Amino acid sequence: MSDILSLNGRVALVTGAGQGVGRQIALHLAAHDAGGVIVNDFVLDRAQGVVDEIKAAGGKAIAGQCDVTDLAAVKAMVKQGEEAFGQAVGVLVNNAGNAGANPNPELAKPFWETGPDVWNSFIGVNLYGVMNCTAAVIPGMIARKAPGRLITIISDAGRWGDANLEPYAAAKAGAAGFMRSCARTLGRYQITANSIAIALTATPAVRRRLEGDPETLRRTLEKYVVRRPGTPEDIANMALFLASDASPWITGQVYPVNGGFTMAL
Ligand SMILES: NC(=O)c1ccc[n+]([C@@H]2O[C@H](COP(=O)([O-])OP(=O)(O)OC[C@H]3O[C@@H](n4cnc5c(N)ncnc54)[C@H](O)[C@@H]3O)[C@@H](O)[C@H]2O)c1
Repeated sequence: MSDILSLNGRVALVTGAGQGVGRQIALHLAAHDAGGVIVNDFVLDRAQGVVDEIKAAGGKAIAGQCDVTDLAAVKAMVKQGEEAFGQAVGVLVNNAGNAGANPNPELAKPFWETGPDVWNSFIGVNLYGVMNCTAAVIPGMIARKAPGRLITIISDAGRWGDANLEPYAAAKAGAAGFMRSCARTLGRYQITANSIAIALTATPAVRRRLEGDPETLRRTLEKYVVRRPGTPEDIANMALFLASDASPWITGQVYPVNGGFTMAL
């Protein structure tokens, strides 16, 4: 039976894919006929673990260890992946985020008591990381003369705002604006660019944090129409759809996947 969500052999790069949401996106893409998945993470062991999972399930993957805030390192990783799989990247999922590879210990302070060196933990990975990876894949994606997909995982913090997370919200909103402009520039090459805005998602790390604080979890979930945290699968389903050949006429959009925490017009 044909797979409406097939990647039809396109090579994918998923950043921050060593755990959590990115891991599940990498597994989903590999299971739907990716020609290969470059599993990026700053932590090599994590990336390699996901590569092993994909290979055990019969898919193709390599680990791409680098910090996405380093443009030269990102370009080298993309080149290595393209050589390994014999074709340019056709799907980029910018997922690496949160506070990045080396969070500044002062991030918890009010942002007005700190400065750009601290804010950069958020801006670096969530905005420059997205721009670096996108810049690295676009030349090859255009040269393929075939459908291409740019997908960025943002947060409802970037659509709706989130108290005490101003630099993070700024970076995520910036990434969504960047995707919209990419959509306008690259539509003529059959390349689409969209963002997925997620809310509380029970990755293993988030689950561990919440298990110790059931009262906070209860109060948080009161704001969700579907009263549970999201799962990595909830997010990966949307990423797969946007990466597949089922979505060629969808571009420049931000899709909330958030249990109804906020609603888009
Ligand atoms: N989990 C949530 O509740 C939630 C909510 C809103 C948005 N998000 C966003 O969803 C995405 C995935 O979140 P998650 O909770 O699964 O993440 P996570 O923190 O569990 O995992 C992120 C992975 O990215 C890697 N990474 C971090 N900085 C990197 C860098 N500079 N270069 C390369 N790799 C790097 C980490 O090593 C880690 O393995 C992020 O963009 C995050 O901002 C998550």
